[in-house]
Amino acid sequence: MDNITLNNGVQLPPIGFGVFQSSPEDTVDAVRTALDVGYRHIDTAAAYGNERQVGEAIRASDVDRDDIVVETKVFPTDYGHDETLHAFEKASGKLGIDTIDVLILHQPAPDRFEKTVQAYKALETLYADGKVRAIGVSNFMPHHLRSLLEQTDIIPALNQIELHPYFTQPDVQRADAEHGILDQAWSPIGGITFYPGWGSDERVSVMDDPTIRAIAEVHGKTPAQVMLRWHVQQGRNAIPKSTNPGRIAENFAVFDFALSDDELGRLDRLDTGRRSGPDPDGDSSRFDARTIPEA
Ligand SMILES: NC(=O)c1ccc[n+]([C@@H]2O[C@H](COP(=O)([O-])OP(=O)(O)OC[C@H]3O[C@@H](n4cnc5c(N)ncnc54)[C@H](OP(=O)(O)O)[C@@H]3O)[C@@H](O)[C@H]2O)c1
Repeated sequence: MDNITLNNGVQLPPIGFGVFQSSPEDTVDAVRTALDVGYRHIDTAAAYGNERQVGEAIRASDVDRDDIVVETKVFPTDYGHDETLHAFEKASGKLGIDTIDVLILHQPAPDRFEKTVQAYKALETLYADGKVRAIGVSNFMPHHLRSLLEQTDIIPALNQIELHPYFTQPDVQRADAEHGILDQAWSPIGGITFYPGWGSDERVSVMDDPTIRAIAEVHGKTPAQVMLRWHVQQGRNAIPKSTNPGRIAENFAVFDFALSDDELGRLDRLDTGRRSGPDPDGDSSRFDARTIPEA
């Protein structure tokens, strides 16, 4: 498994571990299992309410803290220069670590973009002070990136976006590539196309896709493993979530087979161009109800 090198030299494994919707009760066991299986990158967020448990799992594991890339996200209600500096204190306090490896802005707040820019400038300060090893963004579309790059100094190391076979965002991938920004895939196995409590009943689960199932059968692998291998071979970082020990292991067992160019092309052609997650250009007032608690 070769690491990915971010645009500032920091190393990131191609497969990380997501904890969105992992309850605080489940998170310690899930992260410990992931570290035992071999994951060395955990993706959490202030808004997930489980940073404390991620930190607890890291401290309880036999893996050295320095061998783990800890990534977390600042929520828009904490945007603004001083607010975001304080958001770092909240996150590092809950995680119980002095240095956050990757700290990113969770969403653009398009109708309050000056706050978003101030938040990013705070990330730049934290980076200059050595408190974070890499900074980035999430759910930024090309016009958000353009505007951010015009007003700030450090190019984001990564952009975490919805990216699975039914929604590949080629325009965002192109804009990221142009600036040396890594594409980090959220819902990399299409969770947002099937997990309960989100979206309409007409959703079609990526897991049931006949092309993916056929490719999986050829390799004796599962649909999730095929999708993760597709990300790895195309140079992306993917952060599948599971609280199930068997699936945590399954999602990491993707380094013993390879997809052909033809198979990669067949997966690429499944793109529907339809987003399942929230529109990053949506009204920023939707964030206001969520306050991130102190550490
Ligand atoms: N930046 C953002 O706005 C944003 C948005 C969403 C997610 N994320 C990040 O991305 C991570 C992953 O995305 P996600 O959680 O949305 O979706 P995902 O990882 O694509 O899928 C997770 C779902 O798939 C199930 N699952 C996991 N492994 C499986 C397997 N091998 N076979 C069948 N089902 C499987 C999980 O259930 P079980 O737990 O029961 O296995 C869960 O319901 C998140 O945890 C979070 O860290 C970021």
